[in-house]
Amino acid sequence: MDGSLDAREQMGERMTASHANVLSDEEKVQLYHDGYVVLKNAVDPSLTSAAKALISQQPDLIVYGDNPIINGVYNDSILPDVLDEAMGPHTRPLNAQVAVVMPNRVDGVVKRAFDAKNPPPMHGHVDGGWAGLCPEKVSEIKSRGQDLHTWGEDGDPHSMGPAGGAPLWQDREKTLAIGSYTALAAVCLNDQRKPGKGQFAVHRGGHHAAEALFKRQRELGGPLGGGGPLWPRLVETGNDTAFAGIMPPAMYEAYPDDNVQLDGWPWPGLTPVLMEEGDAVIALHSLPHTATPNMSDDPRMNVLFRIRRLRDDNPYEGDVRIGWGVCDHPDRTLGGEFLEYPAGYNPYEYSIDKLCDHWSEWDGMKTIVTAERDR
Ligand SMILES: [Fe+2]
Repeated sequence: MDGSLDAREQMGERMTASHANVLSDEEKVQLYHDGYVVLKNAVDPSLTSAAKALISQQPDLIVYGDNPIINGVYNDSILPDVLDEAMGPHTRPLNAQVAVVMPNRVDGVVKRAFDAKNPPPMHGHVDGGWAGLCPEKVSEIKSRGQDLHTWGEDGDPHSMGPAGGAPLWQDREKTLAIGSYTALAAVCLNDQRKPGKGQFAVHRGGHHAAEALFKRQRELGGPLGGGGPLWPRLVETGNDTAFAGIMPPAMYEAYPDDNVQLDGWPWPGLTPVLMEEGDAVIALHSLPHTATPNMSDDPRMNVLFRIRRLRDDNPYEGDVRIGWGVCDHPDRTLGGEFLEYPAGYNPYEYSIDKLCDHWSEWDGMKTIVTAERDR
């Protein structure tokens, strides 16, 4: 029998992982410009199918804890090697976010929940900010004479976001209102090649604008993140409500790509990341992204890992309380407790430096970054 690749493909044999364990120069150039890169066949089907089987039993569970099958789609694949080379040494994930987007169903029937000609607005976010519906009404906030832009500036630095996500502040001194890491690595578990499947979507190239915004916020005296200069903490969303975590207009205006025209894709400002089982996407922390509605009749399944380059002086690398792999604010614990740091190491200042110069955490990108900047 002809054992060639073509013949095996024709016979329907599943391809095994074939991506090299480093990024090519071409992929690095793409990562520099777009803020993300898709790695085809990065994860062996034996790993994705085991994870998928587990998730199918409990599709509503988001965090599985230190589960070797879930974490294995990263840890047992080429992805640690890829990021060791492109970024640098990093604590391996002890945890992950299982990101399932269920179909838009009503009473068991898939509904096109909106008119494709008049779709609901979809905005990307940068992870690590206090996000969600504000627990206070706009009228209450205004009646106290408080401003929506700086809402939370007098807030308890211990408090966490409404969805239990990121803290209101990273530090007690309130200089930093956004958590950060270095790279998001998302492993795709099922077919997401057709737009409208609930894809992870990005503002392609928006990481340049995010970095510029962080730098500008620092120049203006901070704090960095929502509530700081140029970035309102809350945005009114009608009916006396306000929402936190929306990127500011100053940044949207700087996005280079806002004309994505694809069949079945109603958001021209967002690029859907089209992948199939075993593909992975690596994106910078600062790349604004969002999940999108799933208009198919099949769940979208990804596993997300938040990876931060090792910080030599950080005593909490690998500490289970951080939730390495899932936590978007690893200078505090996953649950939001403050950590005590050794004298001479200020994790918040370090994080601010990296937000303002994200490529400084990518050892293996230095040559490409220099060349592309000079171009
Ligand atoms: Fe996110």
